[in-house]
Amino acid sequence: MKNIIFIAPPAAGKGTISDYLVENYNYVHLSTGDLLRTEVSLGTLLGKEIDELITKGKLVSDDLIISLVNNELTKLNGRLFILDGFPRTLGQAHKLDQMLASLGVTNNVVIYLDIDVEEASKRALGRVICPNCKRSYHLYNEGFKPLNDNLCDDCNTVLEKRSDDTEVTFKNRFLSYLTNTGPVIDYYKKQNRLVKISINDKSITDVIKEVIKVASEYSTSSKEAEFRLKSGGSND
Ligand code: AP5
Repeated sequence: MKNIIFIAPPAAGKGTISDYLVENYNYVHLSTGDLLRTEVSLGTLLGKEIDELITKGKLVSDDLIISLVNNELTKLNGRLFILDGFPRTLGQAHKLDQMLASLGVTNNVVIYLDIDVEEASKRALGRVICPNCKRSYHLYNEGFKPLNDNLCDDCNTVLEKRSDDTEVTFKNRFLSYLTNTGPVIDYYKKQNRLVKISINDKSITDVIKEVIKVASEYSTSSKEAEFRLKSGGSND
């Protein structure tokens, strides 16, 4: 299996897919959103500044997020990882290439999960999360509801809404995605390093199957194009 770098609009389902891969394939899940929310929950001055940005749907600075990710990557000691929510800007993408090269990590695939804004918005607005174990649920989508109203299935903690899952903030987050992360998609595309999976009308089981197929079979060799044809993934 390869390390996975997920690029996707907000609330596409990266965390949900990652949970499955952590449980079944021993991946380490590095979510920059979770790292930042942990800092917020500590109530530090930095946490308060981060909270203000997240609640408005704005990105935190490249310097801060790069140092957080660098710190996590250096602790991995060869374990497989998923990067969820990073890189989100071109500066972060360049820095990630440098960090991975300096750690000698080459076994990676960039997966772009493509989803319509309407569907992503529905996913954000119905989401509730467990503040303890970070699992996310959906109040209305079948298959994603908690078993007991408002309690985490895994640890029984009371579920919460995220401060950025409002209509106004979702619009800002999506706009930021188009402006800042659009160029990141182009960056990987130009280098033939992007595998796109369209997820709008697919069940979570099918999406996970496709992600696993890509992560287990993707090759950067000349067989890359052939692989994409066979797997249904594409780089456009
Ligand atoms: P972050 O936490 O990374 O937010 P995001 O990218 O907007 O992604 P989400 O966590 O919202 O969604 P997800 O894709 O994991 O979806 P999930 O699986 O939960 O970042 C938050 C903020 O932190 C940013 O806005 C920014 O301020 C800051 N930040 C983070 N990284 C940064 C960076 N690199 N640089 C600068 N700032 C940064 O699923 C969503 C919902 O849909 C759930 O309810 C789930 O149950 C449901 N669902 C999942 N899959 C399906 C399906 N197939 N069908 C139906 N429902 C589904």
